[in-house]
Amino acid sequence: MLKNMKIVIIGGSSGIGLETAELAIAQGAKVIIASRSEDKLKQAEDQLGSNASSYRVDTTDEQDVRAFFEAVGSFDHLVVSAAETSGGPFLDTETSKVRQLFDNKFWGQYHAVKYGVPKISPEGSITLFSGVVAYKAMMGSSMLGAVNAAVSSLGQTLALELAPIRVNVVSPGIIDTPSRSKMPEEARLQFYDTLARKLPVNRVGRAEDVAQGVLYLIQNGFVTGTVLHVEGGHILT
Ligand SMILES: NC(=O)c1ccc[n+]([C@@H]2O[C@H](COP(=O)([O-])OP(=O)(O)OC[C@H]3O[C@@H](n4cnc5c(N)ncnc54)[C@H](OP(=O)(O)O)[C@@H]3O)[C@@H](O)[C@H]2O)c1
Repeated sequence: MLKNMKIVIIGGSSGIGLETAELAIAQGAKVIIASRSEDKLKQAEDQLGSNASSYRVDTTDEQDVRAFFEAVGSFDHLVVSAAETSGGPFLDTETSKVRQLFDNKFWGQYHAVKYGVPKISPEGSITLFSGVVAYKAMMGSSMLGAVNAAVSSLGQTLALELAPIRVNVVSPGIIDTPSRSKMPEEARLQFYDTLARKLPVNRVGRAEDVAQGVLYLIQNGFVTGTVLHVEGGHILT
């Protein structure tokens, strides 16, 4: 079903985006990955092979995003997994840090949709990224929860406004990707271990778990305006 489909994955040089690119190519798609770092893009392109090409783009820069889509031309599906996030106690976090978080995760996805839509096929789709902390309150995640909730809401309303293009949102739980390597390894493994004991599935997520969800949203023509939770039952705990 993905044979010869052109899929743009902004954030495709790492983690869930890279895994999505890999699975999509295995199903016959041509993939364009984009992010800020030339080095990460080169490494990802080498890993993905000849059905992938790459562009440098910073989603926080509106003109950069506009130029990116002009260069890419028409395509079928858009996935925006690009984000650099941070957390911390509400009262101890500088307002400028919170603005940066919204610039990156909310405004980045907003720019991508705004300038990507004119290039997307009417049979195509958009998949945006929210996250579990929008649905499950966790200490230190008030701002990230708010940004994720904003993305979920944006995606659901856009499913009406941008139809027939389908718009969906995926909401990952705690997934072991390079985005978590900011935490020192020992603390990270301990966090994973404690969480795994709590979750009904007894493990933290892998990039592939979420990538499979993204491919489902891309391929199922009867699904739009949904938030797909791929989080191992975290919300239930
Ligand atoms: N991993 C988790 O536990 C988890 C949980 C909930 C939600 N999520 C969400 O899932 C999505 C993917 O996360 P991940 O864990 O796969 O992260 P990741 O491995 O860090 O990958 C993020 C990607 O986004 C790119 N990126 C970041 N800022 C960008 C910008 N301004 N413009 C363009 N590209 C940018 C990065 O590349 P460059 O550095 O080259 O730009 C990288 O390719 C994010 O929306 C994240 O918030 C993840």
